[in-house]
Amino acid sequence: SASQQGDGKGAGERFSSSGFILAAIGSAVGLGNMWKFPYITGLYGGAAFFLLFIICLLVVGLPVLLAELAVGRGGRGNASTSLIRLSGNRLWGGFGFITILGAFVILSFYAVVAGWTIHYAVLSFTGKLFEHNDYAALFTGFIGGWMPLLWQFIVMFLTGFIIIRGVSAGIERFNKVLIPGLVILLLVLAVRALTLEGAGEGVSFFLRPDFSELTAESALVALGHAFFSLSLGMGAMMTYGAYVDKRQSLGLATLAIGAGDLIYAFLAGLIIFPTTFVFGLEASQGPGLVFVALPAAFSAMPLGSLFGGLFFVLLAFAALTSTVSLLEVPVAFVREAFGWSRKFSVVLLTVLCFLLGVPSALSLGNKVPALTFGGKPFFDWMDFVCSNIILPLGGLVVTLFVGYAWKGASEEAGLSPWWFRLWLFMLRYIAPILVLLVVLYSAGIITL
Ligand code: PFF
Repeated sequence: SASQQGDGKGAGERFSSSGFILAAIGSAVGLGNMWKFPYITGLYGGAAFFLLFIICLLVVGLPVLLAELAVGRGGRGNASTSLIRLSGNRLWGGFGFITILGAFVILSFYAVVAGWTIHYAVLSFTGKLFEHNDYAALFTGFIGGWMPLLWQFIVMFLTGFIIIRGVSAGIERFNKVLIPGLVILLLVLAVRALTLEGAGEGVSFFLRPDFSELTAESALVALGHAFFSLSLGMGAMMTYGAYVDKRQSLGLATLAIGAGDLIYAFLAGLIIFPTTFVFGLEASQGPGLVFVALPAAFSAMPLGSLFGGLFFVLLAFAALTSTVSLLEVPVAFVREAFGWSRKFSVVLLTVLCFLLGVPSALSLGNKVPALTFGGKPFFDWMDFVCSNIILPLGGLVVTLFVGYAWKGASEEAGLSPWWFRLWLFMLRYIAPILVLLVVLYSAGIITL
């Protein structure tokens, strides 16, 4: 069939309507919601930060999400060629390439953390997790060792294994199984967390805003996270957009994806904050929150190894539906650019991305001192450059493209005139300014 010849136009290279929504929610919902969101909420002001995050989602996130989906479906190409096709200008393709590079780099270290979650799921189910009592030492010992490489490899292997079957038989089918599974696990864990004796304190930390804690920095972190959480600026939504049926309403899809992502982050907060507070742990302890505070909490509750195991499985599933969307971005690009088959492209990029992730995995715990420079391990550099620079820049490219360069945006987005004007206003005047602030601030060019 045509899809096997790699021209991307076969029946197997399209999403069904529900398949698209699930796959896009799968991309958005990931480690960002359950690992990153809780610890930055803990660090940057609790409920007040959560409110800011919601505002950023609405004002900047959703308009840019719709822009990416419309560009993808309008251009029917990868995150670079779609921009060229719609504008007739190769320069835009070069800008689009930034997002493809971003997806590849982010996947390299995202797969490392995804690997940790599988390791912790295994530790928990087998009860080994609870033979320890110093979870901080356990975590630093683990990430500083060689084991993470094995798990990172497994994550990359699974990711390649899924997308090698194509859009419909691979990505869509996988998401259709995993997303309902995620919802069930999430609800079970939320009920468990909220029925813990004394859960209220954690809930109120999460939901009672204290605006005195807000700083300009927390606003920028919230904006950056809104981008990360909706998978924007990395070509993922443009790439998925190219596989969407013309009859699908992109406006409704945008709302569904945004709601899915927000509800998921909300429920994750309702699991993590009560659980850490009940057991007297610190919510503001940073990246170790999920891997250090939660194991301690699970070890102290009845059936903890079951709930702990389920929690980390949930995290691993959420991560996999995101890694799948990330790998598809460069795969779509090399297939089109070099005319390679899907199979060959997937195998090659899976291996290359694994290799690029090796220094990230090995840079933690100072096992290889050369991998720490400028005060940060290689892993943190990758995360920093992607989340704070490439990702907002990629978002800026799409924003400016739809706001100023592409004449057909209105037709592709299919919004009513009023909504269209609001959308365009956000893309022209609000989003670019805010996103530029994030880039300049992160790069240290402006200070607040
Ligand atoms: N949105 C994902 C998360 O919140 O974990 C991460 C992500 C996936 C970012 C895909 C960017 C992307 F293209």
